[in-house]
Amino acid sequence: MKAIKIFSPATVANVVCGFDIIGLALDFPKDEIHLYKSNHPGIRINKICGSSLPKDPNKNVAFVALQFLLEKYQQKQKFHQKNDQDEKIGFEVELIKNINPGSGIGSSAASAAGVVFGANILLGNPFNNIQLIRFAMEGERIASGTAHADNVAPAIMGGLTLVRSYQPLDITRLHAPNELWVSIIHPQIEIKTSDARNILKRKILMTDAIRQWGNIGALVAGLYQENYALISRSLEDVIVEPIRSILIPSFYELKIRCKEIGALGGGISGSGPSVFMLSKGNQTAKKVTEVMNQVYSSLKIGYKTYTSPINQEGLKWIKIF
Ligand code: HSE
Repeated sequence: MKAIKIFSPATVANVVCGFDIIGLALDFPKDEIHLYKSNHPGIRINKICGSSLPKDPNKNVAFVALQFLLEKYQQKQKFHQKNDQDEKIGFEVELIKNINPGSGIGSSAASAAGVVFGANILLGNPFNNIQLIRFAMEGERIASGTAHADNVAPAIMGGLTLVRSYQPLDITRLHAPNELWVSIIHPQIEIKTSDARNILKRKILMTDAIRQWGNIGALVAGLYQENYALISRSLEDVIVEPIRSILIPSFYELKIRCKEIGALGGGISGSGPSVFMLSKGNQTAKKVTEVMNQVYSSLKIGYKTYTSPINQEGLKWIKIF
């Protein structure tokens, strides 16, 4: 097999209380990536459609993530002495971006996770998911200044994921009830993840930490019990949201109005500017999305909305030739 097409999902990082540790994958929107393996060494980003992402290799998250994978693959080959000479391997990449960069729903993660996932398949699956997440995290480092895993992990593993530890990297899937739906609004304003991280406090109060880890534990319990009242109560962030919410117009009005119509709760998607809400069932989620539209239609800011179930499978691929 020489070429595959990959569908790489948008993701919601943090999921309110789980800053840098919890994330979920969406069914919609998705990027499409075409990846070709060749024996012409090097990585070439041949085409980027739907956005003006840098083709300059060292600034392109797909390139950086893929380069990490390729280096590790070649080290592995040498270690196992599979060849006397360096195997000549290269990749050609085409990115069709449907997830807007800077939206807060994992655009850079979709590119980084998508290419390493695809390359792994084309190379005969030499790497496991944790290794792929580590390569994709290097792409995130380029995009945001920090190698966080809470977008790339759900993109690769699907569903809801939890980073128990970064060193060593220890990531697990969480139960994601099928009835859990996500409403998203993406206001067309720019918030750089690096800026949204720089404004956060370096130290937090013990009382806030206690409340936050109570919420994280209860959110996980609520997911496993499919206890929607407990999920709803746990969707609270006393550490990050109070600081970042000032960057998002009408943030609290959105939250209040969405909860009034039946949303379980929600907050900033990743570092924003997108805001997401979780609901039980498709019908409620659609009403919540409609309320998001109403709140933003009175503001002079462009926006996009999406309604999606949780994507249980993560990345998908098909063979081209
Ligand atoms: N956990 C990261 C943050 C996600 O909130 O900064 C960025 O998409």
